[in-house]
Amino acid sequence: MDTTAPIADFDAPAAPTPAPAPASSSALPDASASEAVAADRLGASAARERTAVLEELIRTDPGQFRVLTGDRPTGQLHLGHYFGTLHNRVRLQNLGAELFVIIADYQVLTDRDVADNLTTYVEELVLDYLAIGVDPARSTIFTHSAVPALNQLLLPFLSLVSVAELNRNPTVKDEISHSRQSAVSGLMFTYPVHQAADILFCKANLVPVGQDQLPHLEVTRTVARRFNDRYGNGSTVFPRPDALLSSAPLLLGTDGTKMSKSRGNALTLAADADETARLIKGAKTDAERHISYEPATRPEVSSLLLLAALCQGRTPEQVAADIGSAGAAALKRTVTEAVNEYLAPIRARRRAYAQDRALLRRILREGNERANAVADATLAEVRTAMNSHY
Ligand code: TRP
Repeated sequence: MDTTAPIADFDAPAAPTPAPAPASSSALPDASASEAVAADRLGASAARERTAVLEELIRTDPGQFRVLTGDRPTGQLHLGHYFGTLHNRVRLQNLGAELFVIIADYQVLTDRDVADNLTTYVEELVLDYLAIGVDPARSTIFTHSAVPALNQLLLPFLSLVSVAELNRNPTVKDEISHSRQSAVSGLMFTYPVHQAADILFCKANLVPVGQDQLPHLEVTRTVARRFNDRYGNGSTVFPRPDALLSSAPLLLGTDGTKMSKSRGNALTLAADADETARLIKGAKTDAERHISYEPATRPEVSSLLLLAALCQGRTPEQVAADIGSAGAAALKRTVTEAVNEYLAPIRARRRAYAQDRALLRRILREGNERANAVADATLAEVRTAMNSHY
């Protein structure tokens, strides 16, 4: 991202003129689109290599990491989220890293005009986090909108990125093409910079995310570096955080496409055992009776095998071998049992918390208080660095 000419200019401390916005009337010029895709692919393999190094550091000294990650409150979390990122958070917490989990309520407004059911969805997220083992005594769960100093960081940060860079973000482009907004809002273009504030307000140095978030991590690293260069006076105000990619392959939903809240194909953490059984029973498979793990040619069957394997701590090949030629019905029975058994303690904890709304609200309030204290301290430092103490 930092190697192309306009951005190099934007980086140079002696060049105060920002790169001009693209001259074309289209907000998303094609030439830079393919450039961005190529850079993205490069970024992903570098991030995977870096993840291996980080995992080693986590094993030897987890205490050096401050972890921040989070979700948009748009519904209940599902097993794709769980094996993709959620279990990673709890693992890091339990190893001794400091964990911040952000409920990104302002980010909900990026791809829709109205944030419906926000209060309910925020509570659902808190419930899901507590259910999977995020410990509010050690970790901080908080919402964007309750932390003013975090949001204030957005303004100096916005001055550190060019419109051309914002236009190039491949994840934002993708979201614009799937947007439910009547018109693309300014928030859609700027939310990656807001996300930089989410990460940098607490000086997180490790961000467990999926691959789609790598462009945003790159924005965060760029903002941190430019802020330090411009205002740091030789010292590092913000660390440049690393992405920690999950090793779990993508889980498909029950219809064979990507598991997603909005597609109605998701196995949620919150569902009960019967509903889970019903959903898995209706899952798409194929006509071949012999069950084998072949992700390229048998994606639906393989995803079900993978799911059972993740729940049982086995390999998908082992699960397949046990089923042999017993067919799709046997496969589905195995998967249902594996999922329901794995989720039973998580679901029991979720039900217990769900009965105590006052406790939920207190946990969120205390998380918000902690996040505010951290954000206030960082903003004070930023004001000092920028000489804006009045
Ligand atoms: N953009 C993330 C998503 O859509 C959610 C998010 C908001 C996030 N702020 C964050 C993730 C900070 C990691 C770090 O899933």
